[in-house]
Amino acid sequence: MKALCWEGVNKLSVEQVPDPELRNDQDILVRLVAGTTCGSDLHLIGGYIPAMRAGDVIGHEFVGEVVETGSAVRRHKVGDRVVVSSFVGCGRCWYCANDLWSLCDNTNTNPGVGQALFGYETAGIFGYSHAMGGLRGSHAEYVRVPFADHGAFTIPEGIDDTSALFVSDSVPTGWMGADLGGVKPGDVVAVWGCGAVGQMAARAAILLGAERVIAIDRIPERLEMTERYIGAETIDYTTTDVAAELRERTGGRGPDVCIEAVGMEAHSDGPMHLYDQAKQQLRLQTDRPTAVRHAIHACRKGGTVFILGVFAGAVDKFPLGAVINKGLTVRGSQMHGQRYIPMLLDRLAAGEISTAHLATHSVSLDDAPTAYDMFKHKTDGCVRAVIRPGL
Ligand SMILES: NC(=O)c1ccc[n+]([C@@H]2O[C@H](COP(=O)([O-])OP(=O)(O)OC[C@H]3O[C@@H](n4cnc5c(N)ncnc54)[C@H](O)[C@@H]3O)[C@@H](O)[C@H]2O)c1
Ligand SMILES: [Zn+2]
Ligand SMILES: [Zn+2]
Repeated sequence: MKALCWEGVNKLSVEQVPDPELRNDQDILVRLVAGTTCGSDLHLIGGYIPAMRAGDVIGHEFVGEVVETGSAVRRHKVGDRVVVSSFVGCGRCWYCANDLWSLCDNTNTNPGVGQALFGYETAGIFGYSHAMGGLRGSHAEYVRVPFADHGAFTIPEGIDDTSALFVSDSVPTGWMGADLGGVKPGDVVAVWGCGAVGQMAARAAILLGAERVIAIDRIPERLEMTERYIGAETIDYTTTDVAAELRERTGGRGPDVCIEAVGMEAHSDGPMHLYDQAKQQLRLQTDRPTAVRHAIHACRKGGTVFILGVFAGAVDKFPLGAVINKGLTVRGSQMHGQRYIPMLLDRLAAGEISTAHLATHSVSLDDAPTAYDMFKHKTDGCVRAVIRPGL
């Protein structure tokens, strides 16, 4: 079958790979209907995530049709339309039992790298390096889904494939940021980044009762989209002093919850950006934490900063003084999809969340390398390019 493979830093190509097969009785095989580019893939394509090998198939956010089921699978049958959580959870370990699915103890078959980097390994995720399980990704004609009764969810009638697609990863990620960031009715919430993840975090904050939600980016189409489809206020950080503006809009106090949805390749102007970029390119630091610094600086005293953006290792100039002296809570996590997906499908069906606008482009598997280039450089108004192997 055809699949999109990582062949080296900034090199993607469409190759023939062997068809996947069922390996365990809890697996299903899915024929891909649609997958999408995600900001996390950019970190991987750019060589910032360790343990990628040439020929690895990428992609982790997808919907498809079940074509085969293992003998222990109870919740799925051939022909079902499913959306699949990007992180894979076994459903039985202590972490899964506590709804911390991206921390599952059993789905990363290559735990050594995570243990060396982080102390403990994470769960496995589709198409995201051998440090995170080495599972084959979903930008292919077919994909094997392990522990399918836990990670694959039947798409209810009435929700189209494109809308359901983002419930695989971006929608639960955004929801988790607002939920575990502790957003309460009446809060003011600021969100850095108006990609799919930031937009979904902003929407979640509104649905959890935030009084004002202010989203920050520099790309005009994304700012406009966030106002129109999400209902948040926005700030362009290239023309406005964000911290001063947030103080102004919050009676001098600052936001209660700040959600960072930018990640390790954050952009900024000025000397600090050049410094970070040079250090990252020389591999003297793994990550550029610009938006994290800004969120910590802007957050009100005693507030919470939740980091959704992906970071791989160590950062420099982390404002620890602000964290301790302002009494901040700083949290972060990879997404616990299985915890939120059923509730989010209901909210999608009820029209409380809309996602279809994120799919600004639709391409075949053959055109996926070009689509990733467009997504990386945010050209042609691209927010997410949907890859459809059937085209
Ligand atoms: N925690 C998780 O489980 C999880 C899941 C999915 C994605 N992610 C991460 O979330 C982040 C966002 O993903 P995405 O798909 O929305 O990516 P994206 O690349 O589409 O969007 C990132 C946005 O951040 C903006 N940005 C860059 N620098 C900024 C700055 N200094 N201040 C404010 N905005 C800035 C960009 O203009 C862009 O619009 C990525 O790091 C991705 O890896 C995390
Ligand atoms: Zn993702
Ligand atoms: Zn588990």
